Amino acid sequence: MLFLTYEAGDILNSWVVLKFGGTSVSSKKKWQVIIDVIKSRIKQGHQVMLVHSAAQGLTNLLTQKSDHNKSVAQAFTEQILTFAEQLDVSTSLVQAHLDQLNKLDKQDKLTTTERAELLALGEKCTHQLVLQHLKPHIDVESINPKNWLISSAHDKRSIDSQILSAKCDIEPKDCDHLTADFYLMPGFFASDSRGQTVLLGRGGSDTSAAYMAVILQAKQLEIWTDVHGIFSANPHSIPNARLLLNLGYQEAREIAASGGKVLHPRCILPVEQHRIPLLIKNTNDPQAAGTVLAPENSPKKPRVSAINSRHQVTLVSMESINMWHQAGFMGDIFTIYKDLGLSIDLVSTAQTNVTISLDNIDNILSADLLDELKAALSPLCEVEVFQNCSAVTLVGYRIRALADKIAPVLSTFADQRVYITTQSSNDLNQTFVVDEDQADKLARALHEVLIIEDKEIDDFGLSWAELVQKKTTKPEITQAWWHLKQTQLLTMATQQSPCYVYHLPTIKHQIEQLRQLTSVDRFFYASKANSHPSILEFMYDNGICLETVSPGEIKRVKSTCKEIQPQDILFTPNFAPLDEYKNALSQGIHVTIDNPSLLTEHPDLFQNQTVILRLDPGHGSGHHRYVRTAGTHSKFGIPPADVEPIAAWCKTHQIKVVGLHAHAGSGILDHTNWPRIADYLGSCLSLFPDVHIVNLGGGLGIRENPSDLGLDLLALDTALGTFKKAHRDIQLWMEPGRFLVAHSGVLLAKVTQTKWKGKQGYIGIETGMNSLIRPALYGAWHNIVNLTRLNEHPEYTANIVGPMCESGDVLGIDRKMPRTQVGDILLIANTGAYGAVMASTYNLREPAKEIIIDA
Ligand code: LLP
Repeated sequence: MLFLTYEAGDILNSWVVLKFGGTSVSSKKKWQVIIDVIKSRIKQGHQVMLVHSAAQGLTNLLTQKSDHNKSVAQAFTEQILTFAEQLDVSTSLVQAHLDQLNKLDKQDKLTTTERAELLALGEKCTHQLVLQHLKPHIDVESINPKNWLISSAHDKRSIDSQILSAKCDIEPKDCDHLTADFYLMPGFFASDSRGQTVLLGRGGSDTSAAYMAVILQAKQLEIWTDVHGIFSANPHSIPNARLLLNLGYQEAREIAASGGKVLHPRCILPVEQHRIPLLIKNTNDPQAAGTVLAPENSPKKPRVSAINSRHQVTLVSMESINMWHQAGFMGDIFTIYKDLGLSIDLVSTAQTNVTISLDNIDNILSADLLDELKAALSPLCEVEVFQNCSAVTLVGYRIRALADKIAPVLSTFADQRVYITTQSSNDLNQTFVVDEDQADKLARALHEVLIIEDKEIDDFGLSWAELVQKKTTKPEITQAWWHLKQTQLLTMATQQSPCYVYHLPTIKHQIEQLRQLTSVDRFFYASKANSHPSILEFMYDNGICLETVSPGEIKRVKSTCKEIQPQDILFTPNFAPLDEYKNALSQGIHVTIDNPSLLTEHPDLFQNQTVILRLDPGHGSGHHRYVRTAGTHSKFGIPPADVEPIAAWCKTHQIKVVGLHAHAGSGILDHTNWPRIADYLGSCLSLFPDVHIVNLGGGLGIRENPSDLGLDLLALDTALGTFKKAHRDIQLWMEPGRFLVAHSGVLLAKVTQTKWKGKQGYIGIETGMNSLIRPALYGAWHNIVNLTRLNEHPEYTANIVGPMCESGDVLGIDRKMPRTQVGDILLIANTGAYGAVMASTYNLREPAKEIIIDA
């Protein structure tokens, strides 16, 4: 293809449009890469139009003002100063923009036009600074998008949409007067016909670039970002997701609409209409192949190209026998949704039931609104609402032809509810709505069968894991520690099973891993993950402080680590009795408060005390919905709307807030979680003059298998480094639990009985959910092996079950096992975190005891 095989000396005399996003334009080092790309395109005979976003973090900050009326001028100015310092340029040219920000920041209410002006400031400031930085290196001309991108006069949507998510009518133009080789243009904003600033909505800079590609009749559009392209699934939950090398526009649009994050569907349409190839490239790995969207790339035979999930979907099931042959029934119910301003995503109908899905991202779904909906629908039908669902979508071409492959995967989910199945009439997508905690498992199973096992599809490139490992830290594929301890563990189990065994050198290894986070000043081990005294002592002896959530944990920490100083203990309770706060404060321990009413109802208790405030960052994440600790549905943290009032209250009542804290959830493998929290807490700093601690919480996920790709600690450290540079006086803290101890623990138990029920095999062991509740509670997956027969080949699959009187007492489903006999010892891996601490004596069965080994 022409655009992939530039040869030196090719004189094409045509435009290419390059778009670089926030992470790409934020550092001087990356600008060196960008300059090389521009020069190489010019050398190949092209004129270059480069569209850029705002430097990382700037627009997020401005959104805090625009959406939550939080003052951001100081934090924004500090970030601009840091960025200018990095690029070795002066800030004098952005002063007018900063003055405008200061003015808007002081206003209590902003009009929609003022919000647009405010939100465009990130791009405007970035543009001025970058322009200065580039001039010594390359000839560059600036382009003002307001002269080129004019919003459509025929837009019939609401005024807010017309201003904040404008659409432009774009046609190719005669651009002969643009004679320079290289032009730089800020993305995201445009103009209306009267010259007022309007925005191009989410993914707006990509849309700016797509519009410019059409206007200039470009040879190609290149979107440079921090990933290699579009993958066959979300690589953060499915690391073997494959890079899609060639895609049709329509497939790419379906992927974007079903949850793929790399491109916004709006930027695809203009280039699709004008048949301009779109290439996605990774600024961090410029030589690597990317994804190409081009007219000739439409698939020729049936295939699934991607599997995506969208979370936080709400379903409404409407049941009525009246709908059968009843004219106008559908019209009546859909009018109710329209009147409440709710947009419907999927619809499935049966004789007496209609079920629809509402996307929580597009619809702002409050409990009141859902109550209103139920009240309006109830005269017509019986209504049931299911929240916390996820839509898993297969995108491809002629998907119906693949039914024979899809059916067996679905049959393994027979115990789970599939609420809706929909198929588009163009046969390009098929969606299953399931409970949120099942979505990732279903997506993984479908991905395995439809993509990984399909060797015939040659449009797939390397997997995300391969691409990332090639470039950054290759995790050593070491065997877990217990492989080398088979004999010792079998002897222990013969005498003491059921038992947990914890291996201290593994904890030491994890501590060393964590030390790669050089930007973090202090780590507090979340002792709730495993409060065995020897582990607490080991942590403290190795320089890790301790986080507690109850008086019991404080007592344990103090009695075990005799030398511990109160300032090395953190107390982070939630809905605890008042006395617990009082006692902790009197001991000089850091106390974290996560409810404004504690402070407003007991100002005397907290007056002249120093406290840390736990804020709700708005979005939770984690391996299961029970461990996501942010957002309205979570009981933790101070909501964004209360932050400013509580800051004022603390000031008036001499309550000294020295730290801000947020914890989004547990078992997170996406490294961007913590920089996002840091950005959010950073945006609140200006309200709290005494704050010098920012605690980003815990939640660091682990590799379930040694060959999995774990959290990218280097990328996390780089991102936190950027935050630290912008906030030099702030100490960064983190409070990991699982990451430090999970790998160190195994649970050993003897096989009590085996059984067959038809084709289903069962292996029973002497302990179950009374020792390890995670599989029953969260559907958590733990590797289970027969330690007695570690080197024997698997011969059959079986469910591994415990002895409790509960059907949920299952530790592993359909595990491949060697021929297993009564008396064999099974080992359940990665049980050092949230194992013994969550055990119970249910059925009056004692849980597994705990043993420590130090070598
Ligand atoms: N900080 C706070 C405020 C927390 O609530 C937690 C965990 C942590 C730190 C440590 O999170 P970690 O790094 O361990 O993910 N029982 C669940 C996990 C519950 C976590 C509760 N809070 C499980 O077995 O997965």
